[in-house]
Amino acid sequence: MSTAERFFAKCPNQRSESSRHFALSEKSAAKHKSARSMCIISGFLKSERLMATSMVATKYIVGNWKLHGSTQENAVRLAALKAGCRHGDALAVCVPFPYLAQAQQALQGSAIGWGAQNVSEQAKGAFTGEVSAAMLADFGCSCAIVGHSERRALYGEDDATVARKAQAVAEAGMTPIVCVGETLAERKCGEMVQVVTRQLAAVLAHVSAETKQRLVIAYEPVWAIGTGLAASEDDVREVHALLRGQLEKAGVTGTRLLYGGSVKASNAGALLNTANVDGALVGGASLDAEEFLKIAQAARA
Ligand code: 13P
Repeated sequence: MSTAERFFAKCPNQRSESSRHFALSEKSAAKHKSARSMCIISGFLKSERLMATSMVATKYIVGNWKLHGSTQENAVRLAALKAGCRHGDALAVCVPFPYLAQAQQALQGSAIGWGAQNVSEQAKGAFTGEVSAAMLADFGCSCAIVGHSERRALYGEDDATVARKAQAVAEAGMTPIVCVGETLAERKCGEMVQVVTRQLAAVLAHVSAETKQRLVIAYEPVWAIGTGLAASEDDVREVHALLRGQLEKAGVTGTRLLYGGSVKASNAGALLNTANVDGALVGGASLDAEEFLKIAQAARA
């Protein structure tokens, strides 16, 4: 029994709604596969660093280092990633702001992209402590995560702010990796569909038509982040189908959908082979270069 079924068993109404989305999913996944081959040079892969790999890249593997690292530690990790990255891999690391220059220096000329974990929705001005999208672009970033659940929960970022940040990132020529995902309490109450749909809808309603084509969406169920307990393939299939359906309804096709939440080498293969999963957003396991490269390896299979 999938995690979703376990929770839905307590929430019968939710169950039928989710099965409807699930049914939609297989059709959409097939349609998406062909759209993806056409859009592969858009967004994330548009960055020069990743362009060389664009024709063969299959899945995006993005590391989110969160609040970890030191110049010494990073140097070792970045060198190992550079040495272990293979032709055709589409890898990126989202590092803390102070280490962007280090990532740029270490990864320049490699097929690995780098980016940030947050960004200001403001372009410039009296916003102490903020970092603008143009500043990230200045350091060669190809992407920035927006709306991570930790930012939503701990720093009060609401849907509207997340949408403005996504627009700022895209306007600066980078790929916004927009995180969506429900908490355990929301899932238990049968609110998963509502929450995830609302989070994506807020972004789609605000951003420009051009930004919509650049979006990468990461489904990160809050209950799977840092717990060691990834969502089941059934859960991921269900939510990714929901997101795919919503995007297509809004006329957005070929969007890359990542899964995040306790991804590691041992479960990456199965998760990455799930319908509508185009990559992974990796937290803890991205701090171990060997483990991260094994996830990249799983993405090649
Ligand atoms: P973990 O892989 O550590 O669960 O974190 C996932 C995440 O939050 C990535 O953004």
